[in-house]
Amino acid sequence: MPAITRRPPRAPGATPDLRPPPSGSGGFSPLAKPLLDDATAAIDVTDLRKTYAGGVVALAGVSFAVAPGEVFALLGPNGAGKSSTVRILATLSAPTGGSARVGGVDVAAHPREVRRRIGYVAQASGVDTTATGRENLTLQGQLYRLPAAALRARVEELLELFDLTGAANRAAMTWSGGMKRRLDVAMGLVHRPEVLFLDEPTTGLDPESRSVMWDEVRSLSRQGLTLLLTTHYLEEADQLAHRLAILDGGRVVAEGTPEALKARLRGDRVSVELADRVRLPAARDVLEGLGEVSAVLVDGTTLYAHVAHGASALPALLGALDRAGLAVAQVALSRPSLDDVYLTVTGHAYRSDGDGRGGSGGARPAADRPAAVAGLPQGGGRPRA
Ligand SMILES: Nc1ncnc2c1ncn2[C@@H]1O[C@H](COP(=O)(O)OP(=O)(O)OP(=O)(O)O)[C@@H](O)[C@H]1O
Ligand SMILES: [Mg+2]
Repeated sequence: MPAITRRPPRAPGATPDLRPPPSGSGGFSPLAKPLLDDATAAIDVTDLRKTYAGGVVALAGVSFAVAPGEVFALLGPNGAGKSSTVRILATLSAPTGGSARVGGVDVAAHPREVRRRIGYVAQASGVDTTATGRENLTLQGQLYRLPAAALRARVEELLELFDLTGAANRAAMTWSGGMKRRLDVAMGLVHRPEVLFLDEPTTGLDPESRSVMWDEVRSLSRQGLTLLLTTHYLEEADQLAHRLAILDGGRVVAEGTPEALKARLRGDRVSVELADRVRLPAARDVLEGLGEVSAVLVDGTTLYAHVAHGASALPALLGALDRAGLAVAQVALSRPSLDDVYLTVTGHAYRSDGDGRGGSGGARPAADRPAAVAGLPQGGGRPRA
């Protein structure tokens, strides 16, 4: 792996260099974690709360900080509070409580100053599909009152950067979904922000367009931009983020680097589906009685057992279920992933389609939510002593 060089934090008001990195320079790696120490955090969120009219609690006290130059992901299912957080940071919505700063500037006290520093790409596309790509970018720059000559150059630069030059004079309605989403991102960068908010940049994109967008995000990160992105996709956060916070029901239930979060779940996961679901409780008791198994979670019709060494534990596990007369329909062995982190902290498996298990409808009552403990919070499982 090439050596990773971290750019020094930029001074407030400085503009990111959007030129491609020199060849041979350090490539992007999720492990190249910018340090959040004495530098002013690019984004600082403290005990943020949002209750919408009608009493929906979208944010029930969210805190996190993002270092300059960092890619930070807010990961969570439908209704977790991702957009509510980003909209407050982008000064589009007022918090009910707590505070949020961008580049040290309070979003509620100095929204105009914050707006100068940020780019915001909303979850719903802001592209005018009746206009061409070039027109969309130009209009965006005019909204920021960029001087005409500088804007012309900037538009060409961004079209080139996002590989949109060839289609630039066609109405955006003729573009693919991936192209339109890249145009959204380009529009968020017209005024050279320090911090870019990307609310679900890849939702609805096909795998190829998603991969292109990932490359764009990595490229922007290499150029020193601070990025906060929201996503439904565990893999996306794993691939792109230096650090991430998992939001569930308006709260941060886990936070850290993808590697650190996964490392705390040492061992492997065995997923077991029984032929007869009615016997899940019996199977759970059997697995919890095994020395190889450190924790068991049941979600829906699946049992998840955490074991130190999957390959050696599997025969013992299947043997014990067999002896108890519990027929197994399907079994799978996997290395820890962010899915496991999510499962452990929330007590239920992650579903990116957001079928309501993960907190849609606002924050769940505290009694229904697993309590967080130091580092990685514990979920609804029953870890054995
Ligand atoms: N303007 C609003 N008025 C009332 N309730 C709202 C409003 N916006 C969001 N909510 C509610 O707040 C909660 C959090 O919504 P939010 O949009 O922040 O979630 P999200 O994580 O972005 O979800 P998604 O993945 O679906 O985009 C949800 O219960 C949602 O229904
Ligand atoms: Mg959203």
